[in-house]
Amino acid sequence: MTDCPPRLEKKLVTRLLAWYDQHARVMPWRAIRPQAPNPYHVLLSEAMLQQTQVATVIDYFNRFTEAFPTIDDLAVADEQQVLKLWEGLGYYRRARNLHACARQIVSEHDGVVPNTVEQLLKLPGIGRYTAGAIASIAYDVPAPILDGNVVRVLSRWFAITDSTDEKPVKEQLWALADRLVPDKRAGDFNQAMMDLGAMICTPKSPACLTCPMNKHCQAREQGIEETLPKRTPKNKPTKVTHHVVSIQRKDQFLFTQRPADGLWSNMWQMPTFETVSEKVLPDQIKEQLGLQVGKLKQCQSFKHQTTHRTITFTHWQASNVTGRLRKNAGLWRRLDQLGDLPLAKPQLKVVASLQ
Ligand code: ADE
Repeated sequence: MTDCPPRLEKKLVTRLLAWYDQHARVMPWRAIRPQAPNPYHVLLSEAMLQQTQVATVIDYFNRFTEAFPTIDDLAVADEQQVLKLWEGLGYYRRARNLHACARQIVSEHDGVVPNTVEQLLKLPGIGRYTAGAIASIAYDVPAPILDGNVVRVLSRWFAITDSTDEKPVKEQLWALADRLVPDKRAGDFNQAMMDLGAMICTPKSPACLTCPMNKHCQAREQGIEETLPKRTPKNKPTKVTHHVVSIQRKDQFLFTQRPADGLWSNMWQMPTFETVSEKVLPDQIKEQLGLQVGKLKQCQSFKHQTTHRTITFTHWQASNVTGRLRKNAGLWRRLDQLGDLPLAKPQLKVVASLQ
């Protein structure tokens, strides 16, 4: 078990907080002391920051809070409007969960974001990390957090050489985070861990020379900081192809809605045919849409990475299109009038290429 006497723990915390006071990154959802954080902003930012970089989130956060200034505004919003504002951020289940969270908080908690980990865990899409982050950042509850940055920082401070993907090692890291998180300024401490991981204790070439913790870092002492954290090798992602067909009628293009389950559920797209040979595209178009295409011209191809798949998107432009669109098979829209149709990220790229 990792050894860390209580005195040293205190020193680590004090040093890290002193560094944070000087170097904390400025983010629109972070309160500047002595201002209190807005718990709705914390909830929103944490939903957006899962799997997404801070720099990407900032604009989305600002647009979201402009459209929905309070949690009550979000709770009564239309799902398509929520998804539209989320468009391009990816992992759309987060947007649906956030929306469901807002509704539940309004109906069960009088519109006040709960302040205990236990209550937060009962909300849709909120797991151990997010519950700890919201409780500590919004309310200064001494709850631990463990995300990718914190795993890296802790595995280096304590020279944990076992794979951090293994459950017992994860639990060991949670226990360390729990022991370290201070009773006062818990939110600042947790955010300091994340900032240190993002700015100094980076995955490659960590800036140990300027790190405020370098004298307390066991990995650095042993010269193994760049080898940590250890990960269990993952299975290779499956390779698949999605053929996107743009079908134009005058100044409008055809859009179809994805099924309610699976990847990009309920989002809109140009007709897309997955894991089929390009040879069967005309048949598929006829079968699913009722349209006959005379010619398909191959345009751009690009790759899109999801957690388990590498998807090659190939865009085909259809011409000499005849026939009647099957009932409820899709909607015709001008490309500058897509305000009511949330599109998945790779589809935005295809649309942009046509504008
Ligand atoms: N990642 C997720 N939440 C964060 C926060 N509050 N500060 C910095 N990085 C984060």
